[in-house]
Amino acid sequence: MNAMMAREIGEWTKEKLEILAEYLGGEEYGGGFAYATKRARGTYYIDAFAGPGKCRVRDTGEEVDGSPLIALKVKPPFAKYFFFDSDPEAVKALRYLITQDMLDMLSRVTIIAGDCNDRIGEALAQVPQTAPCFAFLDPEGAELHWDTIVRIAQHKRPNRIEVLVLFPYDGLVRLMPRDPSKLVHAHIIDRVMPDPEEWRRIYEARIKGVLSAREARRAFADMYRNGLLSLGYQYVPPLRVVKGPRGPLYFLAFATDHHVGLKIMYDVFNKLRETISQLYLFERSYEDEY
Ligand SMILES: C[S@@+](CC[C@H](N)C(=O)[O-])C[C@H]1O[C@@H](n2cnc3c(N)ncnc32)[C@H](O)[C@@H]1O
Repeated sequence: MNAMMAREIGEWTKEKLEILAEYLGGEEYGGGFAYATKRARGTYYIDAFAGPGKCRVRDTGEEVDGSPLIALKVKPPFAKYFFFDSDPEAVKALRYLITQDMLDMLSRVTIIAGDCNDRIGEALAQVPQTAPCFAFLDPEGAELHWDTIVRIAQHKRPNRIEVLVLFPYDGLVRLMPRDPSKLVHAHIIDRVMPDPEEWRRIYEARIKGVLSAREARRAFADMYRNGLLSLGYQYVPPLRVVKGPRGPLYFLAFATDHHVGLKIMYDVFNKLRETISQLYLFERSYEDEY
């Protein structure tokens, strides 16, 4: 990948980016986090899996902004941005894009080339206790350790850092074979899940046929939501499922201590539910999210 690289995405990935853009708000979207916090002395954005900045939709070639560019375009801007990526090429591409197109934002940006799980403290150390802060945690698979979420959630109180987290349900279930003697990735799943006993309970119930695939999916989502609640967050709405052409792919989990944050996110979910569901050829029911 080079400085002009774009991340290849499926059409469904646009849903996540749209939710992020709508939630952060700013001029183009009106309202959102940026508007709600505009009187704060400074606001902070952490993107633990930032990517190269640009995405290209696989089937159509359409180019869309990735999460860091979405956040950089929010008005009023965040005081500081922390972008992590473990892929040096993605880091290079992101830095190039910002330098080329958004030079005025560069002084607000810290790009950390490395594993966010190891280095999240470098960003947290710069987030003041009183400042509103939003973290987007967007792993591809099992790269986001639950401990990292714990550290983010414990950094400040009473208003914890708001998080929008991708819980890569489909990828994790693929690591759970029907034959439990073939379960070789338990240590990886342990790192990612909030509760090592609970995921095993769900897994066992699923392979014994006590839970259907759908019930197991719901149980995993509830487990993740309960994990966020156990960190002290006041509001964790039911996780939103994102589907690809072959079915549910991942969940988006949102956690906040602020009722305004919760309201904005519900508005975003409601606003997007019609338009996004039309992207898919199969029926989708919001009430029946997961
Ligand atoms: C799903 S992509 C992120 C996409 C990005 N948020 C966007 O909107 O375009 C995941 C990114 O995380 C990076 N990554 C994987 N493991 C990581 C880790 N442990 N720490 C930081 N970045 C990581 C990958 O190189 C990849 O660019």
